[in-house]
Amino acid sequence: MADVIWGLATSHVPSIGAAMDRGTTEDPAWKDLFDGYAPARAWLAEHEPDVAIVVYNDHANGIDLDIIPTFGIGTADRYQVADEGFGQRPVPDVIGDPELSLHLLEQLVDENFDLTVFQELEVDHGLTVPLSVWTPDPGDAWPCPVVPILVNVIQYPQPTAARCYALGQALGRAIAAYPKDITVGILGTGGMSHQLAGARAGYINPEFDTFWMETIQTDPARLAALSREELIRQAGSEGIELIMWLIMRGAMNAEVAKVHSHYFVPASNTAAGVALFDNRVSQPA
Ligand code: DHB
Ligand code: FE
Repeated sequence: MADVIWGLATSHVPSIGAAMDRGTTEDPAWKDLFDGYAPARAWLAEHEPDVAIVVYNDHANGIDLDIIPTFGIGTADRYQVADEGFGQRPVPDVIGDPELSLHLLEQLVDENFDLTVFQELEVDHGLTVPLSVWTPDPGDAWPCPVVPILVNVIQYPQPTAARCYALGQALGRAIAAYPKDITVGILGTGGMSHQLAGARAGYINPEFDTFWMETIQTDPARLAALSREELIRQAGSEGIELIMWLIMRGAMNAEVAKVHSHYFVPASNTAAGVALFDNRVSQPA
């Protein structure tokens, strides 16, 4: 069976990737954010999985806005980095794992999660920035193949938090049912509080972010009970990206150990959080 060894939750703000690409991570505006990643990166470097599942959202870069799948999965053997208007980021293409993708797809459809299938997909900052948070210097290749799972968080009606948590639980069962003995890291991406447009542009809510960061570990079902409207009220219209953390968390054990977390305001217009959880509480790390 495949075994989830860790879960990494992280914001995906594009300028975090740009700071790495331009070599400005030591600048005063960025240093504290990147220093906050260091303990997570060091631990992750010691715990490389065979494959990573990245739960993320596209921002109308890989998928046109005339098609809005609520949930999707990539089944390709390679995903090119999208040009979001400034040229491609100077990072490697993402290698896929079609065999695992197709297994997860089949299991999830059998559990009544009818994911849209992406046989071709360009991946935007929603996926590449979390990979950079994990691995700042990938060289020619990211640490392992990736299965992308996509979630609509940009167009109403986004899936409910409860539905995301349930998808995560079904994903956990699907991973456990994989016939190959492999290790899996799972990333839940996006957030934390932010709103990029409208009357509340620039809105950030540290109290809610702190509550979310603690409760995602201890009582995710409580977060899954929040309505879409309450999430947008508390976290901002783009802060609803946080529902993707619940898919990651749902795929993990009831009890997880926090390895490291860090919170920084603001990265661009966003409250940036990172939280790393060890899924093997009862086993040596
Ligand atoms: C920003 C945040 C996002 O989540 C995003 O997708 C794009 C931009 C920002 O804060 O700049
Ligand atoms: Fe975003």
